[in-house]
Amino acid sequence: MVDTKRPYSIEIINKLMEIEYGLSGEISCLAGENENYLIQNKNGDRFVLKLADAETTAGTIEIEHLAVERLIDAGLDIQLPRVIPTRTDAIQACLMAENREEIRGRLLEFVEGKAWCRSLPAENGQLEGLGRIIAEMAEAMSFVIHPEAKRTHQWDLAQADQHRSGISLIDSPERRQILEWVFHLYAASVKPLLKSLPQSLIHGDINDDNVLVADGRVTGILDFGDCLTNPTICDLAIALAYHTLDENKPLEAASIIIGAYHSVRPLSMDGMMAIFPLMCTRLAVSVIISAQRKKINPERDSWFVSEERAWKNLEVLSTTGHAQATIILAGKTDLEPFKDRGALVTELIKNRQKFLGPSVSPSYDKPLKILHGKGQYLYDYNGRPFLDLYNNVCHVGHCHPKVVQAGQEQMARLNTNTRYLYDGLTAYAEKLCDTLPHELDTCFFVNSGTEANELALRIARAYTLQKDMLVVDNAYHGHTSSMIDISPYKFMGKGGKGRPEPWVHVVPVPDGYRGEFKGQKEDAGQAYGNKVGEIISTIQSPIAGFITESLLSCGGQVIPPREYFKTAFKHVRNAGGLCIMDEVQTGFGRVGSYFWAFELQNIIPDIVVMGKPMGNGHPISAVVTRRKIAESFANGMEFFSTFGGNPVSCAIGMAVLDVIKEEGLQEHAKQIGTRILEGLEDLKNKHDIIGDIRGIGLFIGIELVKDRDTLAPATRKAAEMVNRMKNR
Ligand SMILES: Cc1ncc(COP(=O)(O)O)c(C=O)c1O
Repeated sequence: MVDTKRPYSIEIINKLMEIEYGLSGEISCLAGENENYLIQNKNGDRFVLKLADAETTAGTIEIEHLAVERLIDAGLDIQLPRVIPTRTDAIQACLMAENREEIRGRLLEFVEGKAWCRSLPAENGQLEGLGRIIAEMAEAMSFVIHPEAKRTHQWDLAQADQHRSGISLIDSPERRQILEWVFHLYAASVKPLLKSLPQSLIHGDINDDNVLVADGRVTGILDFGDCLTNPTICDLAIALAYHTLDENKPLEAASIIIGAYHSVRPLSMDGMMAIFPLMCTRLAVSVIISAQRKKINPERDSWFVSEERAWKNLEVLSTTGHAQATIILAGKTDLEPFKDRGALVTELIKNRQKFLGPSVSPSYDKPLKILHGKGQYLYDYNGRPFLDLYNNVCHVGHCHPKVVQAGQEQMARLNTNTRYLYDGLTAYAEKLCDTLPHELDTCFFVNSGTEANELALRIARAYTLQKDMLVVDNAYHGHTSSMIDISPYKFMGKGGKGRPEPWVHVVPVPDGYRGEFKGQKEDAGQAYGNKVGEIISTIQSPIAGFITESLLSCGGQVIPPREYFKTAFKHVRNAGGLCIMDEVQTGFGRVGSYFWAFELQNIIPDIVVMGKPMGNGHPISAVVTRRKIAESFANGMEFFSTFGGNPVSCAIGMAVLDVIKEEGLQEHAKQIGTRILEGLEDLKNKHDIIGDIRGIGLFIGIELVKDRDTLAPATRKAAEMVNRMKNR
């Protein structure tokens, strides 16, 4: 942004007026952001000459002119700055200055009146009048079509996130936090709506200096220089941001304006939901632009007229949640946002304690009541958005419309089970197999990760006719009896037996950060892999197999070192066991570079288990294995799961695969994951508590330690951090 103010000499302006308009008179410079001059001729008639800045093109002037003419045609009961044509009937005048610089400008009728901000306080009638005028303007301007209206500028609310990086210009940490809150609310609650909100030409700057009033009513609207095509609702939000600046109860005042707007031009529920974040965003953009301008020219007072008032309003508004604010804002309309919020959080906690088993526990010190989800966001009872970096199930975004539609359509057509023939089952099985190495060609469908691991265990035992299993320390594979038996995370954890069953053999976590072979970058994989061989050699009976995750999630987001699986699998297979890969957390492109995380180590397991993201929240899971192994399981005992692979689940699973491909989500995981890892590395350099950063794609772990030498885990701090990240 550059300071483009270049005041011209009065002689030049005089010359322009005479040559282009045949007008002469007294000329004075007008206060304000733009370069405007007041001209008064000898009859006392007044005009405003607006000089064009670098951003003002012939097209934008045409739009401005069309907008004003359209509002006049529509019969709005207000004064408007109409363009006075030049002698040659052009809407823009042009003069070559002596230095050969082109001076362009347009002459407007002078609009009498006092600006809103200079005639405070505003009575309710005036607030209502403003709401009605903005609605009438929206109706009328929606007919103005101009190719250059699809422009943008720094005040464009649909592109407000361009200013997010400007938060760093603000010195006060409290104020920075308010701006973080605003931009987060904007990203989560406005951006997803932007495309579907109705668009039209808007004024773009209905601030309290551009609205003229007299005797408690709005008499004029000035300055159409920021006109652009935008969500129509933005004009209302901008007006609300500025016309509540000096109100003691800004939301109540805003509700009066909204009520009047709605009576002329009914708001949709989406529009209503967007108003509060947009209003706050406009104020946030304003204070950031002020901070940028201070760096350019701190003396130019007209740039900072609303700065402190905007901060004050933001400080008040930021104490109210989206839901509460929107309920107040809609108070004078027939809309009822956030109506169905159900029971209060405290009541829900009480009812859980009454009706659910006490071992079912919610997350966080203050549990969240989530009302809905969209994309990467979850929205709580207060309409507060949370960026969901935690949920490893809603892989293609919460409530992805394509997945929802697939489920709804199939549910409305047919749901049955695998004892009937239907196309969806085989089509989905084929598509799933296409994502895997060709050896893995046979599917079984069930309903959860636990059930799939349970089935994998049965298959391994049926194939090998053995019982013993190797498991990795700290691993979790499910909640049924035998899954608890093969999950050291459970049997060694609170309430567990504290020792494995005789048929379970625990191998160490192949951890390069801690553990026996820590720091052995090149050889750690083989060393940990050979450890599996050593443990096998101590087992008296032959083994059924080895179950492991490709990347160890519960085990501490551990990325096994190179050659680990190759080495470990060799030992397992030499002992006659099968290698089961639990891809419940890691599969479906999460690691970015590959669709399945086991591919990172260039190995092919005998059985792959998948779940969580497979149905984006719908309960579907699968076991995929080699045909020969599947055949050994067909020993006469029928396999049947009532819900496993039902038509609805298959339709949903298919839609998930389609979305991953269509939206390039695997590549996206790679790119975003890399950015997150780089950012976390920066943080590690600044904070000793971060002992290790590890991850691939969107499978990322941060290890917190009390001491970087002893590696003592900072358990309490980690719990605190989880809660603080949620509370931010
Ligand atoms: C690696 C792994 N395997 C299996 C399971 C069990 O899956 P589910 O909860 O769907 O039964 C989980 C669940 O957290 C898991 O993380």
